Amino acid sequence: MKVLANDGIATSGINALEEAGFEVDLTTIAQDELVDYLNSNEISVLLVRSATKVRKDIIDNCPSLKIIGRGGVGMDNIDVEYAREKGIKVINTPAASSHSVAELVFAHLFGMVRFLHESNRNMPLYGDSKFKQLKKSYAKGVELRGKTLGIIGIGRIGQATAKIALGLGMKVVAYDPFIDAINLEIEFFDHQAVFFNINTISKEEVLKQADFISLHVPAQNEYVISSKEFEMMKDGACIVNAARGGVIDEDALVSALESGKISKAALDVFENEPTPEIQLLMNPNLSLTPHIGAATGEAQNRIGTELAQQIIEILN
Ligand SMILES: NC(=O)c1ccc[n+]([C@@H]2O[C@H](COP(=O)([O-])OP(=O)(O)OC[C@H]3O[C@@H](n4cnc5c(N)ncnc54)[C@H](O)[C@@H]3O)[C@@H](O)[C@H]2O)c1
Repeated sequence: MKVLANDGIATSGINALEEAGFEVDLTTIAQDELVDYLNSNEISVLLVRSATKVRKDIIDNCPSLKIIGRGGVGMDNIDVEYAREKGIKVINTPAASSHSVAELVFAHLFGMVRFLHESNRNMPLYGDSKFKQLKKSYAKGVELRGKTLGIIGIGRIGQATAKIALGLGMKVVAYDPFIDAINLEIEFFDHQAVFFNINTISKEEVLKQADFISLHVPAQNEYVISSKEFEMMKDGACIVNAARGGVIDEDALVSALESGKISKAALDVFENEPTPEIQLLMNPNLSLTPHIGAATGEAQNRIGTELAQQIIEILN
């Protein structure tokens, strides 16, 4: 049987599928040519990440298609319910990238509290002519240890983020309308582990208590953080969005940064991907990455292996 990995797949996944007798096609087919390609090559499994869209046109017109697989979490690019109604299995790998996203959150947090996002912009320009001025500008760093991290959405990535924070000696508070309490297992390198309980509190309390806020909610119809929520935050708070564009109101974010209500923010996701607003890109108080939360070798390998395991289970 043939698998088309239209947005690529890690070698771990290719190897597992080939060992189980599948033929893996790594060609990238343009969106409007997919229906023809899937039919003429009798593709049974279509694997995508976020680039390829799998809408009704493909679902209705490709009778050989048995599985649609999304390497990652969000399935906004697939008509999931429609495909399932038509008897096509839709699979994803929700847990594979949680730790990678959580580490990216801390990359931003560690960077921001020591001004790395600004220093890396200015050292190449002024490092040899204004060394002392730059040193003074970045002298008021703070430590994360002992500070409070507020997590909005304490699902898989929220929990992975909480574990890192607890390991650093941060206090963790969390809001999640669907979870009252969690028992986190924090594992150490030698397999020792400690358990830590967190009872969730209201969104307002999280916003009031937190020095740093990290968002880990699914895509929503409304902003989770807009001007009302910024007003509730501590003066000088810092916020990270590595969830989905549209979770933070970007105009309200820029206003909160300009007024000094919040001191810094980090964005891995944007309302207008792949062309984020210039007012965000040029803001010196923003630490920015181009939606790379899950983009580590480890996460991609886990994604590949998990997709392969599910395909083999379903089709063999
Ligand atoms: N930056 C990246 O590259 C990257 C990679 C993977 C996932 N993500 C995104 O991260 C987010 C979280 O993923 P996850 O795997 O932890 O999902 P998850 O489903 O495990 O957890 C989401 C949690 O948010 C809670 N929630 C829902 N609505 C909420 C609200 N309004 N306020 C507070 N909590 C709310 C849910 O109850 C759930 O516990 C998703 O948006 C996902 O698309 C981003």
